[in-house]
Amino acid sequence: MMRTRPLKVALLGCGVVGSEVARIMATHADDLAARIGAPLELAGVAVRRPSKVREGIDPALITTDATALVKRGDIDVVVEVIGGIEPARTLITTAFEHGASVVSANKALLAEDGATLFAAAEKHGKDLYYEAAVAGAIPLLRPLRESLAGDKVNRVLGIVNGTTNFILDRMDSSGAGYSEALDEATALGYAEADPTADVEGFDAAAKAAILAGMAFHTRVRLDDVHREGLTEVTAADIASARRMGCTVKLLAICERAADGKSVTARVHPAMIPLSHPLASVREAYNAVFVEAEAAGQLMFYGPGAGGPPTASAVLGDLVAVCRNRLGEATGPGESAYTRLPVNSMAEVVTRYHISLDVADKPGVLAQVATVFAEHDVSIDTVRQQGRLDSEGLGGEASLVVVTHRAPDAALSGTVEALRKLDTVRGVASIMRVEGE
Ligand code: NDP
Ligand code: HSE
Repeated sequence: MMRTRPLKVALLGCGVVGSEVARIMATHADDLAARIGAPLELAGVAVRRPSKVREGIDPALITTDATALVKRGDIDVVVEVIGGIEPARTLITTAFEHGASVVSANKALLAEDGATLFAAAEKHGKDLYYEAAVAGAIPLLRPLRESLAGDKVNRVLGIVNGTTNFILDRMDSSGAGYSEALDEATALGYAEADPTADVEGFDAAAKAAILAGMAFHTRVRLDDVHREGLTEVTAADIASARRMGCTVKLLAICERAADGKSVTARVHPAMIPLSHPLASVREAYNAVFVEAEAAGQLMFYGPGAGGPPTASAVLGDLVAVCRNRLGEATGPGESAYTRLPVNSMAEVVTRYHISLDVADKPGVLAQVATVFAEHDVSIDTVRQQGRLDSEGLGGEASLVVVTHRAPDAALSGTVEALRKLDTVRGVASIMRVEGE
C-alpha cells in the first residue's frame, strides 16, 4: 500500500555529496517511493551561499537558516552532509528534539562525539544512520552492525580514505608528484573541505574509530586512534617498497587483543606485498577486510569517495530510515556494551622496515644488530648497498632492515637507539610492514 502523504526530507548541505543526494531523490523519485511505501519530498536545502546556482534544485527550497529548517516540526528525516563538528552536532541534536530521524555522512563528528548523537537519538526514539561516513559507497557498517551481529569480529583492516589512496596510487604508478595528485583528488570531489584531514590521516582515523566501535561493541573516539598521515612518505619510500616487492598504502587497522580484553585502532602508512589484495586497490577505491570468528575473512571493496558513490550510501540509509518511520519502528542504536579499553600504539605488535645511512666499515652491521637484540627485536632481512660519499670516495652504505613482529614500543625504542650510534649517519625512513 502506497501512502500518498510524502515523507519530508531536509537536506543540510548541498555540496559534492548533497547535490548528488538531491539529484537521485529527483531522478529516482518513483522507485524510491515504491521501495519506501511513500513518496519523498525535498522540503528544504540549507547551504552557506544561497546565491550559488544549484542545478535541479528549486531555488525556493534554499535557505541559510539550517536551524529553522530542522526546527520546523514537520520534517521526517534530516540528511546532514555539511561536515565538521559545529553546527552539524547542534543541528542533528535539534533535529531529534523536533521529531526527525537523521542520516549523516559526517565521520569527523561521529568519531569526535558520537556518544552525544546516539544519546539524543535514543532519548527521542529516532534513528541515526551513517553508512556513508565510512568507505563511501561500500556497504560496510550495515553488515558489521546487522549481518555480523551474531559473530565475534576480531580484526578490521583496510584502506578507508580515497584521497590518500588516489595520491599514493598516482605517485606509485605514474610518478606524479604529491601536490599534483592531491589537486587532482580535490578536483574530483574526493578530498575533505580541508584536505589536511585526508593527508594527515584524521579522516581515516575517524573511520577507524567508527569501525572499531561497531566491530567490537565498544566506544572508540578519534583520540583513541593512533594516527600517522602520508605527508612523511617520500618517493624514496615508495621506490624502496617496490624493491622489496611491496607497495605503500595508508591503512586503518582495528584489532581485538589476543586475550579479548582490550582493543587497538591505528592509521598509518604501511608497506604491503604486491601479492596482497589491498595492493591492487587503485585510485579512490577502498577495501576493507573483516575477520570474524565464525565467518572467517570477508573483503568489502568499492568506490570510497566522490559525490555519486557517497550519495548511494546516503540514499540507502534514507530508504531504511523512512521504512522504519512508516513502520513506527527504529533500527539498532549504538552497541557499546563491552566497554573494552583501547590500548596505545606502544602495545601493538607489528613489523618495521628501517632504512639507515651508515658508515661502510667493519663492525657496523654487528653494532646495528646488537641494538636490535638489546631491544628484543628479531631481524628478518638485511640488505646493504655501498655508495659513494659526497666527495666520491665511498665509505657510506644504505642499510635496510626488516624486522619480525615485535611490540611497537620495542621497535621505536630500537630506532631511537640506532639514531645515537656514531656509525649511523641518519635514519632515512621507517615504515611498518603489514599484510604478510
Ligand atoms: P562540501 O564541502 O562539498 O559541501 C558542504 C555543503 O555544506 C555545502 O553545500 C555548503 O554550502 C554547506 N554548508 C557548509 N557550512 C554550512 C552551514 N553552516 N550551514 C549550512 N550549510 C553549510 O562537502 P562534501 O559534500 O564533500 O561532504 C559533506 C559531508 O560528507 C562531510 O561530512 C564529508 O566528510 C562527508 N563525506 C564526503 C565524501 C566525499 O567523497 N566528498 C565521502 C563520504 C563522506 P555551500 O554549498 O553554500 O558552500
Ligand atoms: N575525503 C574522504 C576520502 C571522503 O577521501 O576518503 C570519503 O569519506
